[in-house]
Amino acid sequence: MKMFCSAGSEACEIGPTECPVLARLHPKGIGSPECSVLARFTHKDIGDNELTFSGQNCWNSLRNSSCSERFGDNEKYIMCNNNNNCSADINRSGKNMEAVCNGYTSQQEASSVKDFSTEEASPRLKELLEGLNEPGDSRNPPARPEWLDRELFDRGRKFYQKFLFCIFFSDLLSLLMAFSLSRILRPLIYTERSDTPTRALRRYVSTILHIITWFSGDVWDPNDRAHKDILHVRNIHKNSADVFNSSENYDQVQRANVREKGHAEPKCPFSQALRQDLQAQAPKGLRLESRDNPPLYISQWDMALTQYCFLGLILSYPNRMGAWRATKEDLEGFVHFWRGIGWLLGIEDKYNFCKGTAAETKALCKEVERFVIVPSLSRSSWDNEHMSFSLMDGINMMVPGLSYPAMFRFLADTLGLSVPLFVRNTSLKHTVQYWVMRLLLHFAFWIPGVVYFFNLLLKLSLRIVQEKHPGWFPESRKVIFTNT
Ligand code: HEM
Repeated sequence: MKMFCSAGSEACEIGPTECPVLARLHPKGIGSPECSVLARFTHKDIGDNELTFSGQNCWNSLRNSSCSERFGDNEKYIMCNNNNNCSADINRSGKNMEAVCNGYTSQQEASSVKDFSTEEASPRLKELLEGLNEPGDSRNPPARPEWLDRELFDRGRKFYQKFLFCIFFSDLLSLLMAFSLSRILRPLIYTERSDTPTRALRRYVSTILHIITWFSGDVWDPNDRAHKDILHVRNIHKNSADVFNSSENYDQVQRANVREKGHAEPKCPFSQALRQDLQAQAPKGLRLESRDNPPLYISQWDMALTQYCFLGLILSYPNRMGAWRATKEDLEGFVHFWRGIGWLLGIEDKYNFCKGTAAETKALCKEVERFVIVPSLSRSSWDNEHMSFSLMDGINMMVPGLSYPAMFRFLADTLGLSVPLFVRNTSLKHTVQYWVMRLLLHFAFWIPGVVYFFNLLLKLSLRIVQEKHPGWFPESRKVIFTNT
């Protein structure tokens, strides 16, 4: 098998070990059953990489329609995996191939690259992992549990009122993390309720309005609107889980992807750059599913992980989210608030992410960030990129100045991740947005009154969306901003 390396317009034959610029596979060489080649190459989009091709399987998969076309035509061969069947075949024949080349296949397959043994997890994380196959609704009664501390819970409600904008902002960032978790992402793609900017705006404004209803009212009073609202959401989850896990729909949910939903492929994908950026930084991740252990959708683990998404960033990095004046007691109340909300949504106390003190919960957040979130981000795909763009483009209609590239850069900075290739892909506009956000949250929000002003702006924007789209939110769900 011959390999070619192109430097500028010159193509030169080189040995199979080193290729400083770009590896080109000679199409005629691939047919031999002995073919086994390690290609080291550099590509302008994804940096340094290694690929292994071997044996007849390799040839069979490369011959596969659009894939062979692109392989034959060499330079762009690393993009060949637009064809799902083709990439599945390649996965079997060359393991490394998957990690670098496979942008568009399911993350389930890609997750076999690195694993973090459950044994290495802390006892608390291990306990949560036991909920992977437990239904998300534990059927606990929606009444006050004995551990409820009303005063602390109300402190959490006040925290929401004081730092609404900061929490809203951190929730958006957390959604970018949540979309990288395939067991959360697939159901969201499947339901098609957030896969375009307008749908995402409706879906996530609705979510914010639910949460405002919960902290503004008394979720523990069966006659209060907030209590009825949270039980309504619990019911949505129960019904959704029944659909996702049913024998008629399960396979479709497993395979849900934005290509099949008819969405256009990004012209300049960010996910490749991101995978490349994070490859070396991401620690081994927890293996949450496999062919032998397929996911139970909306499990207790998923619920706990979503709790993390609702509170993890602001608890771990309050200043970076602009909540400069959050006190220890505020954060303690915030955690307790989410423990109560989790309980009412059906999370068994054992699996409640917020069961411990604020300090314990923060430590758990850091562990999840390191062993679940960052490894998932390092396997980013077109699917989560598409959903992230839809979310940010949708919310941008309500809060101008937001975009996926700027928000993701902000998230990466918060998590201490270096993403040079991702940043190189961002436009000047995104760069300006990013620095404006940093200036606001990292400096201006420190000034008394600024958070309050942004809270008002957010409430005003929510009111405008409600008035502009009265059909989106039934009258009974309308949130009137008087007591928040
Ligand atoms: C603490 C955990 C969770 C909270 C607080 C929460 C919150 C909510 C809220 C407020 C809604 C109503 C949105 C609307 O009115 O459109 C909703 C709907 C929904 N949630 Fe959750 N959720 C949680 C966990 C999960 C998990 C783990 C999943 C799994 C994928 C999930 C999937 C869904 C789905 C499919 C819907 C229906 C709307 C849609 O199709 O997008 N949720 N959730």
